[in-house]
Amino acid sequence: MEFPQQRAAFVTGVGAPAGIGRRVARRLLQDGYDLAVGDIMFENVDAFVKEISAEFPEKKIIGLHLDVADEESVAAAFAKIKAELPQLVALVNPAGVASPTPMGEATIEEYERVFRVNCRGTFLLMRGAFELMKEHKLGRIVNFSSITAYDGGGTFSKGLYAGAKAGIVGLTRGGAREFGHYGVTCNVLAPGPIDTEIMGGKLTPDRKASMSSNIPLDRVGQPEEIAAVCSFLCSPDSSFVNGVVMNVDGGKHMH
Ligand SMILES: NC(=O)c1ccc[n+]([C@@H]2O[C@H](COP(=O)([O-])OP(=O)(O)OC[C@H]3O[C@@H](n4cnc5c(N)ncnc54)[C@H](O)[C@@H]3O)[C@@H](O)[C@H]2O)c1
Repeated sequence: MEFPQQRAAFVTGVGAPAGIGRRVARRLLQDGYDLAVGDIMFENVDAFVKEISAEFPEKKIIGLHLDVADEESVAAAFAKIKAELPQLVALVNPAGVASPTPMGEATIEEYERVFRVNCRGTFLLMRGAFELMKEHKLGRIVNFSSITAYDGGGTFSKGLYAGAKAGIVGLTRGGAREFGHYGVTCNVLAPGPIDTEIMGGKLTPDRKASMSSNIPLDRVGQPEEIAAVCSFLCSPDSSFVNGVVMNVDGGKHMH
């Protein structure tokens, strides 16, 4: 299927100023996409839309006040995208929450919080995007797991996060198998440590150095390096890549 000249992407998780979502959004604008961006930090979404609209005046950009785990909020987002943007080709879904609580101490509320955003959110977004993409028999869905999913937990996030991120792998593979027949690919990134605020500002220079010791490239990753992989997965070049879990971790976890 030809990529349309006028095409749109939907990027979640753009609220955090130093997060992956914003880098992905900018990268997809550079790649020629019009854009819908959303996050639960509503004021930050509005501020970000102002910024990127000034940087990319030729692009159509809409901001969405979005809770990825709320069915109505997600439905409203896709209704707006359908009405206001040309053909939706790509969904990139970095919205997520971490959990530093060890499983033995976790409450059911903490379990619900972590799985609600990561798994329920991923499902709702995939379902909504597929509804629009299948009409055109073209789509690229990119979700976010973590290498923590294989390791049962990491430095800052424990078992609940690992479980939810493993769930996202299964959801993505399910989408790859079911949506593939409609020309919609589904892939999932498993980043290693990336220099953002998700660890609650705990990624100090000392901490970065100690976390780098088991990474063959001797450093943590940058959000731009995640955005570059998303760019490929949202491009025509990835047309036969489907159901892949792509580690982007400097070689920390090899399998
Ligand atoms: N940074 C890392 O080291 C790392 C490593 C592995 C995986 N990841 C994954 O990559 C993704 C992006 O990570 P990041 O470091 O940019 O995180 P971040 O914390 O900087 O950004 C996450 C964004 O998701 C938004 N969000 C949270 N709950 C939401 C909801 N219910 N609805 C809408 N938006 C919501 C937050 O407001 C925030 O803007 C996450 O899924 C994370 O689990 C990150």
